Amino acid sequence: MAEDLTVVIIEAGGRGHAISEAWEAHPDVKKIIVTPGNEGIAYNRNKEVIIDKRGNLKDPDSILDVVRSHIGHRRHHIIDVAQDDAIAAGTVNKLRVAGYNAFGPTKEQSWIEADKGKSRDFMRRHQIPHPEYRVFDSDKDAIEYVRRIYRNDPAKAVYVKASGLAQGKGALFAGNLEEAIDRIYAMKTFGISGSRFVIEDALSGEEFSSFALVNGSDYLFLGNANDNKLSQDDDKGEQTGGMGGNSPAMVTMGIEDAIDAGLFKKAIRGMNDEGYSYQGILYAGGILVGKEPWAIEYNARWGDPEAQLVLPSLLNYPHLVIDAMNGNLKKSISLKDKKSRVGVVGVSKGYPGDYSSVRGREIYGIKEAASMPNVRFYSAGISMRDGKFYADGGRLLMVVGEGSNVLEARGRAYDAMSRISVEGDNLHYRRDIGRRDAERLLAGQ
Ligand code: GLY
Repeated sequence: MAEDLTVVIIEAGGRGHAISEAWEAHPDVKKIIVTPGNEGIAYNRNKEVIIDKRGNLKDPDSILDVVRSHIGHRRHHIIDVAQDDAIAAGTVNKLRVAGYNAFGPTKEQSWIEADKGKSRDFMRRHQIPHPEYRVFDSDKDAIEYVRRIYRNDPAKAVYVKASGLAQGKGALFAGNLEEAIDRIYAMKTFGISGSRFVIEDALSGEEFSSFALVNGSDYLFLGNANDNKLSQDDDKGEQTGGMGGNSPAMVTMGIEDAIDAGLFKKAIRGMNDEGYSYQGILYAGGILVGKEPWAIEYNARWGDPEAQLVLPSLLNYPHLVIDAMNGNLKKSISLKDKKSRVGVVGVSKGYPGDYSSVRGREIYGIKEAASMPNVRFYSAGISMRDGKFYADGGRLLMVVGEGSNVLEARGRAYDAMSRISVEGDNLHYRRDIGRRDAERLLAGQ
């Protein structure tokens, strides 16, 4: 008889909620702990889900303490290390040294995301299509560089990107020389993460996020989605951690083989050739340049909000992760449903700027929205008291509508979101998530 499994998920937000839901579907899983999590994740679950706020994502010792306190020395249980800071801080290393079954990339494998300069150099070495770039650790050299490139081409657009982790907000767009210099100075706001930075040509094209489960040289493509990163409709406003998306992303349809060959195969082979036998989720952030997928970046984890859109489609995900951990991925097949999903993120008004006045305000309508058919609810920044929901972060929640196509899914997501509000009219969400693909569907493209 299979032993009961406890799964500890190292994550805080909506992505952790989606990962916990995926593990919940495994028949052997009896208990799930999410650390540090947020209280809304435990709402209305089928199995026991415990939120343990003691885990500090940047402190692997604190995670080890939490893991020990819940599973003691019962080493067959699984720890899914899903969050970028925790991965880069070496949480997987720490847990494995202590004898635990940890899933995710080690510190040594995390550079593919956590050092964007090194990651771009890797792409260059392995002929992965990427934009022109230069890596800097001095403002003076960087400013000289942008002066030179704008002298040659005043119409150029660039991204200035913090080389280290910046909660998805470290890529700043500049459309002229003045903005480029401003963005170079802005790197200081990212602290140590911005002390080294990359300046690269801004590509124009449609973006997508693709995901694979990797164990050494074996990997399995899991799916793709798109993410809308700017705070306002029509891709205006400020860079956020993600305002919603849809899956599958139409831009990827018909080019799955090119994404596999150009972005996954080359990267995974390259990492193995260079001695990094990667284990975990590999996230290829891509852009379609003409008909060719180019790499914007790689991440060493699921995307957020993409996890909430792709994971529900994966019918045997926990089995696949266990196969990867046991070295059996080569024989595995990913079972998927054929649904379309559109997910809309609800944020505190003011986010990604100052939203402190919203913290502690009551959130209404979640019970109604979450119980609607073909709707999933994910909690990102919610605290709970006496069965009520309260704002406890910038990104608060996400509702995902499911349907046989993007139009149906989108209608359901927005219907659900229309039931939700935050005390004092403090909820903000974009109204155009999934619109482009819905229009394409209507136009028969
Ligand atoms: N969706 C962007 C990210 O997770 O980094």
